[in-house]
Amino acid sequence: MTMVNANIAAPRLLLVAGGAVRQLADVLGKFGLSRPLVVSDPFMVSSGHIQHCLEPLAVAGMTPAVFSDTVSDPTDTVIEAGVTQIRAGNYDCLIGFGGGSPIDTAKAMAILAAGGGKMRDYKAPVAADKGALPIIAIPTTAGTGSECTRFTVITDTERDEKMLIAGLGALPLAAVVDYELTFSVPPRTTADTGVDSFTHALEAYVSKRANPFSDALALSAMELIGKHIRTAYAEPRNAAAREGMMLGATQAGLAFSNSSVALVHGMSRPIGAHFHVPHGLSNAMLLPAVTRWSLPGAEARYAEASRRVGFAAAGDTDAVAAAKLVTGLEAWNRELSVPAPAGYGIKEAEWNGKMQLMAEQALASGSPNNNPRVPSAAEIVTLYREVWTGAASNM
Ligand SMILES: NC(=O)c1ccc[n+]([C@@H]2O[C@H](COP(=O)([O-])OP(=O)(O)OC[C@H]3O[C@@H](n4cnc5c(N)ncnc54)[C@H](O)[C@@H]3O)[C@@H](O)[C@H]2O)c1
Ligand SMILES: [Fe+2]
Repeated sequence: MTMVNANIAAPRLLLVAGGAVRQLADVLGKFGLSRPLVVSDPFMVSSGHIQHCLEPLAVAGMTPAVFSDTVSDPTDTVIEAGVTQIRAGNYDCLIGFGGGSPIDTAKAMAILAAGGGKMRDYKAPVAADKGALPIIAIPTTAGTGSECTRFTVITDTERDEKMLIAGLGALPLAAVVDYELTFSVPPRTTADTGVDSFTHALEAYVSKRANPFSDALALSAMELIGKHIRTAYAEPRNAAAREGMMLGATQAGLAFSNSSVALVHGMSRPIGAHFHVPHGLSNAMLLPAVTRWSLPGAEARYAEASRRVGFAAAGDTDAVAAAKLVTGLEAWNRELSVPAPAGYGIKEAEWNGKMQLMAEQALASGSPNNNPRVPSAAEIVTLYREVWTGAASNM
């Protein structure tokens, strides 16, 4: 029997409740913090959503500065601009308010401000354990789970590479998890971010680094997401569905942060870097084909995932349940209107021309090594090819 060898890290405080963002000033107060720099994105500011974060601070007498130059798939150059703003002020914490992009930006700003140099100096497997300032994370998508992970994903603009950066410097001190903030998320982003959460839970569960802590969280997250993803997509203001998705996203974040992601994420980051497909959408494009290919490496685990998400019945054999996971994920993609790479507007010649480089970048990230079946570069290229044609036939 293998003995457990787990190294569990989580924020010191998770405040989880509808309306919890109104207690933001109390959360800061618990840690003696009072001079935040809020990190968000242009849409959160122009749409007024940022007020959900600024108002409770204003009531407590704080008038924080806002860094809102975050871009989706945050870049090293934006992080450098953020560090300049940190150095120009007198802040005692960063509040990441928004989807995964602003939260990841805040994390990377803290890491770069602590150690200097270039963002790529912190690329995994380097341990990015130091942050100049503590992070309070407030997710407005459900989601990346970034509010409780020890990861940040930053694009190296010179090399067109989405880098995984891992360490305690990226782990928030506290998170305020308030599903009411997600009522305004449009259906496309609801689907994409929801599939991202599901992928975190599934990959944490089948990963070679899975452990009893990550397993419990991953299974619970898959059950919640399986139950609620379609309703959250179809009925944006359904509170039960939004709450279920937010709980699932946070649990999935804790799960993969204490296990790992695997081949889907390894192959997804290069698609984001080269073709600017939203992160959850590129996961969704890959998920059925990569799961089908990976099944022989962990059939019993894929089968259990399939039962928990609700695709298979309790009495199904492992072989039947595992097969139903693949067909269930294909059905999700149809119901959630996930386009094939061609449908997203990617040119076939460009896709084919990048497959070899993307396969190398996927392997170099280390994530595919945690997959229950570890591919060669040639096998990854075959999977990219299959995703092109397989997904295209779904259109
Ligand atoms: N750090 C981690 O552990 C981790 C895990 C997975 C993914 N990621 C990274 O996170 C990023 C993706 O994050 P994301 O999927 O949350 O997308 P995002 O943060 O880029 O947001 C997507 C869009 O939704 C908008 N939006 C956000 N909240 C909204 C709301 N409440 N109402 C209306 N619109 C809203 C944003 O303004 C943006 O236009 C990627 O860079 C990905 O690589 C990080
Ligand atoms: Fe992800």
